[in-house]
Amino acid sequence: KRVAVLISGRGSNMAALVEAARDPDYPAEIIGVFSNKAEAAGLDFARANGIATASASHRDFSDRAAFDTEIDRVLTGWQADIVCLAGFMRILSLGFVTRWQGRMINIHPSLLPLYKGLDTHGQALAAGATEHGCTVHWVTPALDDGPTIAQARIPVYPDDTRETLTQRVLVEEHRLYPAALAMVARGEARLG
Ligand code: GRF
Repeated sequence: KRVAVLISGRGSNMAALVEAARDPDYPAEIIGVFSNKAEAAGLDFARANGIATASASHRDFSDRAAFDTEIDRVLTGWQADIVCLAGFMRILSLGFVTRWQGRMINIHPSLLPLYKGLDTHGQALAAGATEHGCTVHWVTPALDDGPTIAQARIPVYPDDTRETLTQRVLVEEHRLYPAALAMVARGEARLG
């Protein structure tokens, strides 16, 4: 399966997918990386690995739908079968999500349905959580709300901070996302 990844910054999850896909037995190849920020560090990693890249800023488009039409044009040009959101910090329009529904997945740094939105590690600490983690889920129109494909869990220790949780959850993200994408690419996980 041909996989495109949408990023906004560092792109360490995208890099984990690229590394996993080096295995000839892996059921997907990363064929393109799109960023809504031209300066995203992840684009440099993708280029260095011979992967097609593209970027566009929403500021150059009249509205969300027009921006998403541009993303769709890029993905269609790459002949992407599956789209992975990996730290992509723009909310996608209903039309775009509907068009890619069942073919688009996201990684979120919490055990959904807990702690949707931003600052999930701060939210977990504020809630006094004893367990935390990350989720790969299908993207549906409601934010961070689609059915779960896979989760990874970590314990929360009394002295944990946002920083320590960020670091330990990220290690799990880098294992979970390639495993979940493989399930999707093999047809072992399906939406609906
Ligand atoms: C990850 O924690 C991801 O779950 C969240 O944003 C972060 C992106 O990190 N949505 P990276 O760009 O993949 O390094």
